[in-house]
Amino acid sequence: MPGGKITIAIDGPSGAGKSTISRLLAQELGIIHIDTGAMYRAITYKALVKGIDLTDEKKLTELALDTNLEIIPARGDRPQAILLDGKDVTREIRSKAVNEHVSEVAKVAGVRSRLLHLQRKLAAEHSVIMDGRDIGTVVLPSADYKFFLTADLETRAARRYQEIFGDQGDCAEFESVKQNLAERDLIDSSREFAPLRQAKDAILIDTTDLTISEVIEKIKGYLCR
Ligand code: DC
Repeated sequence: MPGGKITIAIDGPSGAGKSTISRLLAQELGIIHIDTGAMYRAITYKALVKGIDLTDEKKLTELALDTNLEIIPARGDRPQAILLDGKDVTREIRSKAVNEHVSEVAKVAGVRSRLLHLQRKLAAEHSVIMDGRDIGTVVLPSADYKFFLTADLETRAARRYQEIFGDQGDCAEFESVKQNLAERDLIDSSREFAPLRQAKDAILIDTTDLTISEVIEKIKGYLCR
């Protein structure tokens, strides 16, 4: 890994392992991790609380511009926290309602450009591993390293289901998690602005049959070259 400031972009669909892997890798490298999905989630949460029509792009853009979003990056064992207009909403943004609507909000150009600005500012100030959908293609096209993590839908759904329900869920809940992931994949990859796409110069890693530490070792192998 070269000395000095470093930027690492990690993209891919939900459940591919991006956030967990980015957080642990950042911890090992002693740099910060920014989970950009949390930013889209925070805007979605605020829109839901305010009862805004999620098909009204103008209102969503105004809402995003009128929002103070503060990311306290993950460092060491402390996970990333997110402050929405001064209030910690780290837990609230993981709700079922936010899961179901976040892709709709993330389609809106005005919302994306507001968050793009914040994301670039963070990367300009710190050595960072930033994970999302458009980091290697749009947010940090000149990142030092780019990875695109993927896994088959069944595996990604099983991971998400385990995260949400642990051993408490049932088959219907598994199917609903899987359906939500498939719907989000479709919206995220077919939207007009900054769709989920592998950057031409990103390294593709299929995590279906890999453990978290195997993926981390693979990525570290590329950083050392
Ligand atoms: O990574 P996540 O599941 O928390 O992301 C939530 C949603 O946010 C996801 O469905 C797509 C959107 N997103 C995006 O459009 N661009 C990003 N850089 C990160 C997330």
